[in-house]
Amino acid sequence: MTKPIARVPESHEFMPTDYFRQVDKAEIFPADQALEVDLGCGDGSFLLGMAEHYPDRNFLGVERLLGRVRKVCKRAHRLKLQNLRTLRLESRYTVEWLLAPGSVSRLHLLCPDPWPKIRHHRRRLVQQDFLKAVHAVLEPGGEFLFKTDHDEYFEWAQEKVAEFGRFESLDWPEDAFFYPKTDFQIQWEAEGKRLQGLRLRKV
Ligand SMILES: C[S@@+](CC[C@H](N)C(=O)[O-])C[C@H]1O[C@@H](n2cnc3c(N)ncnc32)[C@H](O)[C@@H]1O
Repeated sequence: MTKPIARVPESHEFMPTDYFRQVDKAEIFPADQALEVDLGCGDGSFLLGMAEHYPDRNFLGVERLLGRVRKVCKRAHRLKLQNLRTLRLESRYTVEWLLAPGSVSRLHLLCPDPWPKIRHHRRRLVQQDFLKAVHAVLEPGGEFLFKTDHDEYFEWAQEKVAEFGRFESLDWPEDAFFYPKTDFQIQWEAEGKRLQGLRLRKV
């Protein structure tokens, strides 16, 4: 019988030894620093910008497409970033099953697929089970940050968060803190689209 060939992880890629066991942040990064997670990190401009700006925090980019994971790893290698790792995995699974409870200080969900057709709404990430899992992985006072250009998805997210009831909504003016634009944000703003954001603190 032919054995499946395991893929060798890229430099800067975190590959769990067991995908069915919870992973503690100390397994991902040797340095004991606050952990921030970017779900669907894409080509990684936001993630790389954050990791460069905040060397005293760790950044994990979750992305399902291998090509994008490889691209982010190459860029992180070139920049010699010690505080960045990628994880090639599905976002919901990562939050609901893989990451240890109370281990994340900020979780970013930026420009996710809005799944605009009504019959696809159930594929949207922001749902009650997902919010429950986000709440569980965040440390006390941890934050969930969400941005979209899709007005209807934004309203949907607001409704789901209100229904969930265990997040406090914080002001998020543009100059609140360093927060680089994502690749999609740059592209969409150049097309004249406007993004809306939610900044939510775990209570
Ligand atoms: C619209 S792009 C946004 C990328 C990046 N956040 C940005 O703003 O530039 C969505 C990204 O999320 C990834 N993605 C979509 N659904 C995902 C999922 N369920 N798990 C992991 N990655 C996902 C896609 O492959 C894509 O790279």
